[in-house]
Amino acid sequence: METAVEARATAKLDLFEEIARLKREMNAVILAHYYQEPDIQDIADFLGDSLQLAQAAKATDADVIVFCGVHFMAETAKILNPTKQVLLPDLAAGCSLADSCPPHLFARFKAQHPDAVVVSYINCSAEIKAMSDVICTSSNAEKIVRSIPESRNIIFAPDKNLGAYLEQKTGRKMILWQGSCIVHETFNERKLIALKTRHPNAVIIAHPECEPQVLAHAAFIGSTKALLEFTIQSPHQEFIVATEAGIIHEMRKRSPRKTFIAAPPNEERHCACNECPYMKLNTLEKVYLAMKNRAPEITMSEELRLRALKPMERMLELSK
Ligand code: 13P
Ligand code: SF4
Repeated sequence: METAVEARATAKLDLFEEIARLKREMNAVILAHYYQEPDIQDIADFLGDSLQLAQAAKATDADVIVFCGVHFMAETAKILNPTKQVLLPDLAAGCSLADSCPPHLFARFKAQHPDAVVVSYINCSAEIKAMSDVICTSSNAEKIVRSIPESRNIIFAPDKNLGAYLEQKTGRKMILWQGSCIVHETFNERKLIALKTRHPNAVIIAHPECEPQVLAHAAFIGSTKALLEFTIQSPHQEFIVATEAGIIHEMRKRSPRKTFIAAPPNEERHCACNECPYMKLNTLEKVYLAMKNRAPEITMSEELRLRALKPMERMLELSK
């Protein structure tokens, strides 16, 4: 915990300069997800979606990984890099989707379907990964599901919305764990239709964690990276974006002349419900402090890491 004296000292620093200095001194790399606040996205050495970040974590030769994302993402970096120090600026940066799948309940669920192949979305804890046969992200989920022989039953966890979307895409019925993301479930179909009516030329794009009634209106569905690429390549000039609003920062940077409108959340009054409260726990100041104090650090038992590594490696192999 930062003291009042430390807080006053930190407030006087140029955090951009200090982070750059510490990065050189520590041989650190800063990895950031598209949902991080704009300043963090701008200082990152690598900005990407979950799959890209896992691949970047595996490829880095830095000694320290400063992970600007949520806990399961930093944990994934640690699973892939046992000898590197992995720092997460705020240890409380969790994920509602990962939390919706407690390991003891999932173990019971899995035991009810002993012959099923377990495909888990990367938004889950190391314990759930350790109980899985293969991991997927929103960019490779379809490919991973299609790689499982037709003769096998599949348990898909923890996101019921991504699971339902994959069932529709692949025609494969799966046994779905009923988890979800609080941010992606906040988008409101009625308000989305009203917004589209006011912007008839705008194209609706959505992340597959959204509910089916929202996805039904989307002209394009994909991971954060895929959504970004779509906006860059599309001849359209206006987009309604149904995912966490942080991605719009990079969309605007890459296509400054195009217009991006955040999809409307459920609440009647003005709110920031389309911002992930966990992702936004990380701040530039916390990034600096994590580097200075070399904490909070992600740790786990080697036994758990090795069990979680197997399905991760299978995913990375299948994603080549
Ligand atoms: P991506 O795979 O698009 O990075 O999704 C991560 C995530 O947490 C979405 O809520
Ligand atoms: Fe988890 Fe949803 Fe936040 Fe993504 S947006 S990190 S799924 S709570």
